Amino acid sequence: RKRVRTRHFQNAKEQGIPIVGLTSYEQLSAAIFDAADIDFLLVGDSAGNNVFGDETTLAVTVDQLIPLTRAVARAVSRALVIADMPFGSYEGGPDDALHTAVRFMKESYAHAVKLEGGVRSAPQIRRIVDAGIPVMGHIGFTPQSEHGLGGHIIQGRGAGAEQLLADAHAVEDAGAFAVVLEMVPSDIAGRITKELRIPTIGVGAGPQVDGQLMVWTDFAGFSIGRVPRFVKQYANLSQVLGDAVGAYRADVASGAYPAPEHEYEG
Ligand code: KIV
Ligand code: NA
Repeated sequence: RKRVRTRHFQNAKEQGIPIVGLTSYEQLSAAIFDAADIDFLLVGDSAGNNVFGDETTLAVTVDQLIPLTRAVARAVSRALVIADMPFGSYEGGPDDALHTAVRFMKESYAHAVKLEGGVRSAPQIRRIVDAGIPVMGHIGFTPQSEHGLGGHIIQGRGAGAEQLLADAHAVEDAGAFAVVLEMVPSDIAGRITKELRIPTIGVGAGPQVDGQLMVWTDFAGFSIGRVPRFVKQYANLSQVLGDAVGAYRADVASGAYPAPEHEYEG
């Protein structure tokens, strides 16, 4: 199986082949998604919520994300693995950003990094790309600036459209190989997709983009609490696992487990 490279993202856009991504935080899901030909796996800072039990993505650190990213990178043979740079690890400037990106590449075997912000993050993107590390941008609703944005708010509506376009172009001009558009109206996402040469990856950005990304625990029905409108749930893993553990508990209580076929002979 041939590894997905950033040039395949470019080819996919040119040929109109949708790019499909999921988040992953450990080797079990990563191996399954890779075998299913998911093109890229993002080890998102959403691990803060989904692995470490935090309320937002703000607290998770580079030290926490590196071992998760390494587990995902080791589990795949085809998917492009992208390390999400957490809040506080690149805002200080291009030197900070490069330092963090280099840590992920050396210590986690990721193939690329992602960071949030358009115009404001362009110098960081440029510095990392110049060092030979592919960067995925992320604009629209950027969860790391939730408090600055005033909550989970759709971006790019009305007068916000011009800012979003400027952010999209800034990310492309800085050398990113793709850009995530999170929670933006479909028409503006479509316009950005037409204007940019690099592929757009939608997270709640409608169908007029070059690819889609979902948080894996959301798509699989394995999340705690409410999921956003843009999520389509393809399974109910919480139910499956809840039923299984209930059956196990009942079997132990009744003596049905272990049965003779689970025993070793002397
Ligand atoms: O951390 C994450 O899961 C993300 C995507 C949802 C874009 O950044
Ligand atoms: Na993220």
